[in-house]
Parts: sequence; structure tokens; C-alpha cells
Amino acid sequence: MRKKIVAGNWKMNCDLSETKNLLEGLTQSLPNLLSAEVIVAPPFTNLQFAFDNLKNRPIHVCSQNINENDSGAFTGEISVAMLKSVGVNYAIVGHSERREIYNETDELLKKKVNQSLKNNITPLFCVGEKLPAREAEKHFDVVKEQIEKATFHLSADEFKNIVIAYEPVWAIGTGKTASPEQAQEMHLYIRELIAKKYNQTTADEVSILYGGSVKPANAKEIFGQPDVDGGLIGGASLNAEDFVAIIKSF
Ligand code: 13P
Repeated sequence: MRKKIVAGNWKMNCDLSETKNLLEGLTQSLPNLLSAEVIVAPPFTNLQFAFDNLKNRPIHVCSQNINENDSGAFTGEISVAMLKSVGVNYAIVGHSERREIYNETDELLKKKVNQSLKNNITPLFCVGEKLPAREAEKHFDVVKEQIEKATFHLSADEFKNIVIAYEPVWAIGTGKTASPEQAQEMHLYIRELIAKKYNQTTADEVSILYGGSVKPANAKEIFGQPDVDGGLIGGASLNAEDFVAIIKSF
């Protein structure tokens, strides 16, 4: 179902005491009435702590990755059942850092999307082009291929249960945001792609988030675009004041 979402991807930051401080700051300054669904994605070790401490707050807990298998000999990996048992109901799938640094392919991400949906965990499926592709005006092609390869095997009903996050790689952690026009153009393109593959109703039901150097100063303008349903926030989600300001930008 399409909704406004602000999700914080903490990446490999915050040990347990930092997690405690950040969550305290967040819950203290979060308004009672929220105009968007709020999600936090702390590192695996702090998911249970986050869930226990956010139980009575309207904040969902998300993992930064999932494994595509049910269980077994996969040393170092975390299964969906384990994540569910500590209250996780969202998972980031296909973040560009996982694609790049850990060589996650479209084929693998397809399995992760399936595993996530099969277990009622909503995947925040990330797509986005690198700078050379943007400069060569191939950004639409890159995003199209990423979406087609990992998600277009789904039925329309299944597709409605995923969230897409457009994160141009050149805007991640660089302070260089896509302009509101660039974000809107890509989000509209993605929605049209979904409409073409499925139908307009399905396309209208999918939340499409923007990620890449979103800050309190630029969130309002980006979130104000008709096809931008919220944001996946990295650096600014590590500061409670900034994250709350971004949430309030709707
Ligand atoms: P920044 O907000 O730090 O650019 O990171 C975006 C991101 O990668 C969120 O997943």
C-alpha cells in the first residue's frame, strides 16, 4: 500500500550505547502525530534492543540486509526467521553498498526479494545508477534493468508489497543530492515502468523513496514532488534532531 515513509539506514554505525542514545533522542522529540511511517535500520546486533525500546512507539524496525536461505550452513549470515523473532518487519535489499562491496547481483537480489515477501517482511528494494551512467544518460536503463531483473517476476499483488528506494550512487554520502526535478523524473519513470508491466493501480500503490544526501534543508522540496513518497536517509538519520526534522518535512 502506498504510504509516506521516512527510513533511517544507520549502516555500520552505532554500538549498543550509541543506539540507546539515538533512540532516546528520537523518541523524545518525535511528534505524537506522524505524517509518515518511520523506520529505523540499526545494525543486526541492536535490532532486538531497538524493537524492545520502540514497542510502544510508531517506529518500525528494519534490517539492513537479509539472507536468501531459510537456515543452515551459512556462517556469518542472518536468516529471516531470526529477524522476525526480534520484531523486524522491513528489510533493505540491494543497497548499492551491498551490490558494490559485497558483489550482490540482480539474481541474488531476486532471491532476497522472494525470501523477504515469503516471510511477510517488506523489502525496501534499492536501485540507482553510478555517476558514469548518469553522465552517459544511461540512468533510466540502469534502473530499469535493476527493477526488471530482481522484481518483475512477481505478481501484481506481490509487487504491491514492496517499497522501492531510488538512490543514485553519486548522491550517497557525498552531500550532492539529486535535484527535486531529477528525483521526480526518475520516480515517475519507475512508476510508469510498473504501470506498463502490471497496471496503473499497482503502480499507484507502490511507495517510491528517494535516498542520497537527504538533509533537513532539502527534505521538504524533495518530498514535495508528486512521485516521491519519502526518503531513505543515511548520515542524517544518525542525528536524532536532523532525522526528526526530516520526518517533519512532510
Ligand atoms: P546518505 O543519506 O548518507 O547520503 O546515505 C543514503 C543511503 O545510502 C541510505 O541508504
